Amino acid sequence: MLFRSIGYRADDLVKPNVTFSFIGEHEKQLMRKEAAEALEKMFAEANEEGVQLAAVSGFRSYERQVQLYNAEIEASGIEYAQQSVAEPGKSEHQTGLTMDVSSAENNYQLNEDFGSTTAGQWLAQNSAEYGFIIRYPKGDEKTTGYMYEPWHIRYVGKAYATDMKKRGLTFEEYIQLATE
Ligand code: DAL
Ligand code: ZN
Repeated sequence: MLFRSIGYRADDLVKPNVTFSFIGEHEKQLMRKEAAEALEKMFAEANEEGVQLAAVSGFRSYERQVQLYNAEIEASGIEYAQQSVAEPGKSEHQTGLTMDVSSAENNYQLNEDFGSTTAGQWLAQNSAEYGFIIRYPKGDEKTTGYMYEPWHIRYVGKAYATDMKKRGLTFEEYIQLATE
């Protein structure tokens, strides 16, 4: 389902009890309750395996996405912006089901390099068990419409996430399959 809504804001946004890449309180710490609980479990179990994950950016309001989108157009031009930042009203960050994740090892940066780090590889390997998918995989840019984002995970629940991973399907392909 394409997500589009200017005023949408889930009513169960909470701050997950995880390590963040920054100090202080910010709305971008929030996620919907079920996703937040799954994130907590995943971060705790990664930590037990010696992998330190850091949450960088979760919920974004429509207005915040307007700022980010315009800033990216300004910085990199419209063509690049359209492949890297969702148009306001179309970002999964507004759903409260998404978190951008990095690590100290990657200087908390959200970049392609994160995919090759221990934390990035752990996330790709294990996040489905906690209900998350790597939403914009490498090689699927044409299907998803976005560049590879090894840091952007989206909560879909464990059953769907593990099935999508097993079948090697993107969110778009899975939705297509389910609605055929
Ligand atoms: N970077 C992703 C596509 C977003 O802006 O939602
Ligand atoms: Zn993201």
